[in-house]
Amino acid sequence: MTLVFSGVKPTGHLTLGNYLGAMRRWADVDQHQADALFCIVDLHALTVDHDPARVRRLSRQAATLLLASGLDPELCTVFVQSHVDEHARLSYVLECVATDGEMRRMIQYKEKAARERERGGSVRLSLLTYPVLMAADILAYGTDEVPVGDDQTQHVELARDLAVRFNQRYGHTFVVPRATPPQVAARVMNLQDPASKMGKSDDSGPGIVYLLDEPDVVRKKVMRAVTDSGREVVYDRAAQPGVANLLEILAACTGGNPSELSGVYESYGSLKSATAEAVVETLRPVQERHRELCADPGYVEGVLRDGAERARAMARPTVDAAYRAIGLLPAAAAGAGAAATSDIGVTV
Ligand code: AMP
Ligand code: TRP
Repeated sequence: MTLVFSGVKPTGHLTLGNYLGAMRRWADVDQHQADALFCIVDLHALTVDHDPARVRRLSRQAATLLLASGLDPELCTVFVQSHVDEHARLSYVLECVATDGEMRRMIQYKEKAARERERGGSVRLSLLTYPVLMAADILAYGTDEVPVGDDQTQHVELARDLAVRFNQRYGHTFVVPRATPPQVAARVMNLQDPASKMGKSDDSGPGIVYLLDEPDVVRKKVMRAVTDSGREVVYDRAAQPGVANLLEILAACTGGNPSELSGVYESYGSLKSATAEAVVETLRPVQERHRELCADPGYVEGVLRDGAERARAMARPTVDAAYRAIGLLPAAAAGAGAAATSDIGVTV
């Protein structure tokens, strides 16, 4: 059976971009068609300036929202990255296969590091090595498919490269994964700045729809979205990025097609109203289920505990195999006799 792995970082409140680009598909398709693991990748949240209490809060909230969006622990595994040591164990070994040049070429690293330096801050070493940890997340489970938004394809490419390189050097150990971006809404843009991604850790709140925004807040944000200087509703990402973004959001929420939908609306105003209502209706069931789950925190904790246990058992054999393949001496099991003499040569 195909194995699917994906993750979300607890660095901010989850957005419509996370939902349309990733989470919704995990719930609607992936968990039904594959052995699937979905991870709150909290170690990744420590790569930038962070507040420990907030990361803890956001991790719990992300887990609750994943379940609210329809992930069913009977069908898939939901867990927190730091609860499973195998991720960090494998990451180090993969650092011994990756190169520093490869890391410095990562677009997200370049962008985030530049932003941090502009602010006069320092760049954490973990921001540079983050894609290796992400590769470890993926490779530890023998993942075939990684359903992510557009912004993550370069990182998944790196995971592929590391898997191939490791297998060539040390013997076949890892499955080579591939990214599977969604057909629509692979990159939901900021409503106030359609040139940049709707990212949860960005500062410009009015352009970001959060999954837990009240319906009226959603309506206000969509109605105030920046549109383009033309008047006609046409689907043209380059010439009319603001309108194209609204059409894509509408299409993703209603199951339509952005080009066809562009013919339906005569004005920007009517497109915005339709999009606002479609987003409100899309988020309504998620918000309702989120309220129910918040009333039962013990349930969410139980899901995460069981998830971590399952994940650990799945990752362990592959990570142990990678340790052996790269030349690390296995620890003797308790009660085992002397090491096999064939391994104790004099010519090392
Ligand atoms: P992150 O927020 O970076 O932890 O991303 C979690 C998942 O959501 C990843 O698969 C991202 O590719 C996806 N994602 C995040 N923001 C967007 C966006 N604006 N449009 C589409 N997908 C997104
Ligand atoms: N880097 C991803 C993001 O920012 C999150 C992530 C970490 C991830 N590990 C992963 C996604 C493994 C898919 C698979 O969105």
